[in-house]
Amino acid sequence: MLILLDSADLEALRAIIPGHPIDGVTTNPTIISRSCAAKKEIPGLLRRIRSLLGGDGMLHIQVTAASADGMVAEAETIKEQFGRDVYLKVPVTPEGIKAIMMLAQNGARVTATAVFTPQQALVAAKAGADFVAPYINRLDDLVVDGSKVVREIKQVFTQYSLKTRVLAASFRNIEQVHRVCLAGADAVTISPELYWKMLFHPLTERSVEQFARDWDALPEEEEPK
Ligand code: E4P
Repeated sequence: MLILLDSADLEALRAIIPGHPIDGVTTNPTIISRSCAAKKEIPGLLRRIRSLLGGDGMLHIQVTAASADGMVAEAETIKEQFGRDVYLKVPVTPEGIKAIMMLAQNGARVTATAVFTPQQALVAAKAGADFVAPYINRLDDLVVDGSKVVREIKQVFTQYSLKTRVLAASFRNIEQVHRVCLAGADAVTISPELYWKMLFHPLTERSVEQFARDWDALPEEEEPK
């Protein structure tokens, strides 16, 4: 099970990486636009995230072109700038599927993104994607159970022995994260805020405070009667 952070907020990322069990960072154009005032800042920001992650962490960067050829050309530039092991996020549009096939055939790592149905996931997997990213909260918002979509994608992939992994994305609360874990997601990408919420419980805080109080109250030596 992989846990990634869905953020380009360097300060928020640095509070968690390194030191916590994070497998990588995912970004998309919206996330990047929140952390950059202009496009020329993007390479520097992504390079800093890359170096924060170190050699083993996965970095997922989304292409923005509309045509398959445009996406493939953009992917080449991304790989040159940020390393050949970068995961190229490609939306599952008809042009995106063509790009996924071309990229996968050339040995690139690909994450099919903006996935909302098991059928889109199946086509992306057949095209050669390493990950598919279903958007849980955006499904839940439409009263379509996002975790059910994850369970069905996993069922289809298992049934047809497809190696593509499910990277569940788009969360608003930890209940959604828990449900996709039960549904068998291979990975989740969550905001730094949700990561901290995964760890928080008032009873843990209260227990630790009680341990500290009891420990501090114990004298170094037995006091004379
Ligand atoms: C990640 O791959 C997605 O781009 C992202 O999780 C979408 O999340 P949102 O629905 O919160 O924008």
